[in-house]
Amino acid sequence: MVKVDVEYTKLFINNEWVDAVSKKTFSTINPQDETVIAQIAEGDKADIDLAVAAAKKAFHRYSEWRTMDASQRGRLILRLAELLESQARYLAELETLDCGKPVKDAEDEVYFSASVLRYYAGKADKINGNTIPADGDVLSMTLKEPVGVCGQIIPWNYPIPMFIWKIAPALAAGCTLIVKPAEQTPLTALAVAALIKEAGFPPGVVNVVPGYGPTAGAALTHHPDVDKVAFTGSTEVGRIILGAASAVNLKRVTLELGGKSPLVIFNDADVEKAAQIAHAAAFANAGQCCCAGTRTYVQSGIYDNFVKKAAEIAQKRRVGNPFDAVQQGPQIDKEMYDKVLSYIEAGKAGGAKCIAGGDKLGDKGYYIKPTVFADVKDDMKIAKEEIFGPVQSILKFDTFEEVIDRANDTNYGLAAGVITNDITTAMTFAKFVRAGSVWINTYDHVTSQTPFGGFRDSGLGRELGEDGINQYLETKTVTLALPKKPQL
Ligand code: NAI
Ligand code: MG
Repeated sequence: MVKVDVEYTKLFINNEWVDAVSKKTFSTINPQDETVIAQIAEGDKADIDLAVAAAKKAFHRYSEWRTMDASQRGRLILRLAELLESQARYLAELETLDCGKPVKDAEDEVYFSASVLRYYAGKADKINGNTIPADGDVLSMTLKEPVGVCGQIIPWNYPIPMFIWKIAPALAAGCTLIVKPAEQTPLTALAVAALIKEAGFPPGVVNVVPGYGPTAGAALTHHPDVDKVAFTGSTEVGRIILGAASAVNLKRVTLELGGKSPLVIFNDADVEKAAQIAHAAAFANAGQCCCAGTRTYVQSGIYDNFVKKAAEIAQKRRVGNPFDAVQQGPQIDKEMYDKVLSYIEAGKAGGAKCIAGGDKLGDKGYYIKPTVFADVKDDMKIAKEEIFGPVQSILKFDTFEEVIDRANDTNYGLAAGVITNDITTAMTFAKFVRAGSVWINTYDHVTSQTPFGGFRDSGLGRELGEDGINQYLETKTVTLALPKKPQL
């Protein structure tokens, strides 16, 4: 077992490490062997109140943060990117310990997160409004101003990237933040908080309060001094957050929620390549990915051949200790492990053909075999609901018109993919599919420059790219009266 030091276990408020007001702690668990890694200070309403007060103070009009040059904000964000990279191996190991993802994947995610910081660092001093030829004897302009104090609620599947996707645009915009990491994965958020302090951000600009959703999370979404809430997680909790955000004030809300994304493969595709792309789309991060391509639609001409290949690739997937050179570690926790296994049972009971996996792996830790179902029908539970585990469902189709209707027959709309060499087919699919990201002959290609988010029940607003920073800005219109004919 790799030994990873856990240095930070307290709440990070106003650039200080503090115990919870209640003195309570909670355990964070290693999903490899179900042992307790550390006790973490458990934030609740009283701690959120302190963190919000610190963030509010840091947002005061004369504060160091508000009076800082925008270019200097950019420099601090750049410095954080450098610190993140300098600690990449350590952060990756800490992440692997806490959430079980392969350490190489965790390391790649640290570098990706640094790229997101760099992208927004560059944006900090390029936030421009417009000048507008408004009617009347006036000159009008728009100023883009930070939304204010923001609450950001993070999931456990990509703890570092989700933390950075949220803080980077918000900091570039000049907001102040209270971040609540997922209760399953508090460790890297606290380690990054230490780097935020080291980078030189003033006290109160970023506060990190671990704790549970219904307590710390809810306190944040209900707080009257919080101007905006950003959330990534389940659609179910997204609904709760949207309601809470309008209860005491009208918070701006961005939500990045679940999905049941279709990946459509046409007869002209190279079957081997398509099967590899579809495998990665379904199994990346042990299937714990909001945009996972879990509905694999394959045209009838290549269907049988594709199914054979998909099973072979899944059977060869290396699953095991995430500190070794594996492709898949354990699922995040007992709850998700049980949930995924129950979906696998539902797939079998519902009449789908299980052609790979279909069971847990070993008796210690939350490991599940990469599982592939063929002959899946659209009305089966495994084709309709988000499983969030290593399960691929393969469905057969005949025509373009049929598959576009079937792909869109869901309340979700986060992502979609299409594999074909016919540009008209690809672009027509991209035009008609209702999803926030469409990948053609690739999948999961997410970058700092390209907006990411969902149609319909998959969310509200976008993260990353230009759209990402706009979610942290308010538009202020300033109009100056000018006499028609000045008497100068
Ligand atoms: P969740 O949506 O309950 O948790 C995500 C975050 O929200 C955590 O930080 C949690 O503490 C917080 N939270 C929970 N209830 C809250 C509340 N009432 N107010 C404020 N914050 C709250 O997700 P969970 O329970 O971990 O997983 C359930 C399902 O959600 C998964 O099976 C999966 O389908 C989906 N999910 C989707 C993710 C995505 O990337 N879109 C990430 C994680 C889960
Ligand atoms: Mg939950």
